Amino acid sequence: MKKIAVYTSGGDAPGMNACIRAVVRGAIYHGLQVYGIRRGYNGMISGDIFEMTSTSVSNIVQRGGTILKSARSKEFMTPEGRKKAYENLMKLGIDGLVAIGGNGTFTGAEVFYNEYQIPTVGCPGTIDNDLYGTDYTIGFDSAVNTSLEAIDKIRDTADSHDRVFFIEVMGRDSGYIAVQSGIGGGAEIVMVPETHTPLKKVVSSLKDGLRRSKSSSIVVVVAEGDEEGHATEIAEKIKSQVGDKLDIRVTTLGHVQRGGAPTAYDRILASRMGLAAVEGLMSGQKNVMAGVVNNEIVYTPFIDTIKKTKPIHDDLLRMVHILSI
Ligand code: F6P
Repeated sequence: MKKIAVYTSGGDAPGMNACIRAVVRGAIYHGLQVYGIRRGYNGMISGDIFEMTSTSVSNIVQRGGTILKSARSKEFMTPEGRKKAYENLMKLGIDGLVAIGGNGTFTGAEVFYNEYQIPTVGCPGTIDNDLYGTDYTIGFDSAVNTSLEAIDKIRDTADSHDRVFFIEVMGRDSGYIAVQSGIGGGAEIVMVPETHTPLKKVVSSLKDGLRRSKSSSIVVVVAEGDEEGHATEIAEKIKSQVGDKLDIRVTTLGHVQRGGAPTAYDRILASRMGLAAVEGLMSGQKNVMAGVVNNEIVYTPFIDTIKKTKPIHDDLLRMVHILSI
């Protein structure tokens, strides 16, 4: 292996820059040439590929976002798009790829590998923490810390006005961000896609809080995945059942969770995974994601990272319930 290229794709995540830095410097350390591809698969298709040096990644370890930019490419889903991408890589003699991203990124990488067999190793970069094959994904810890900061602030105003807040966090079909933010933020109820929380239960728990004169209650709900809908819809339904007994407000945290400086944990995780991707490629790994399980680097086939589910420990959900009494 002589020349590798690195790209970030899908939703950006804090720590992606630290990962790019580790890939670039790890590759150069091992005597490889390294290229950056801008805007993920879109840049592969348009040929937006440039050589990177050690200084291309100076002063980025602490920055959120991704210096390579990111995109969700529709064209890469077509065989014609992938053919153009392959031809561009071949023009430069690229013989290995590092894909930093989540589900969609690895789905693309899997299809591309099966068609063109360019060895590819992935680094899990997504705030959602929904990939099998790693305990944590790059950006998850930062996103949880960002949402906690917001929840703490909301608690102040909730408490002053004796209000109930429904706070919507990201996570697509995964409840990881919700559960961790809920525990860290002292939520009364956490609603996640992995287990159904009937509205009846939410109502009775809030009424229970009223009876015990709890001054404020916070519900964390997963936006994209929860069966009962978005926080705004859930809040409306609850209002119609409790009337003016509770003063309810909704806050949707949204993309603020994807921005900001990565936490120490994410910087270190991203650096480990970036280097593991390069060293994995050099030792013959292909079509796999480099993850960290029980503090050890493991390589898991892309197909498993996408298809297998990473369950949320029942213990965590049980704990939300116990700690909110
Ligand atoms: O996958 C990361 C994520 O932030 C999800 O939590 C969310 O559902 C989605 O991306 C939002 O995507 P977009 O930035 O394209 O609106």
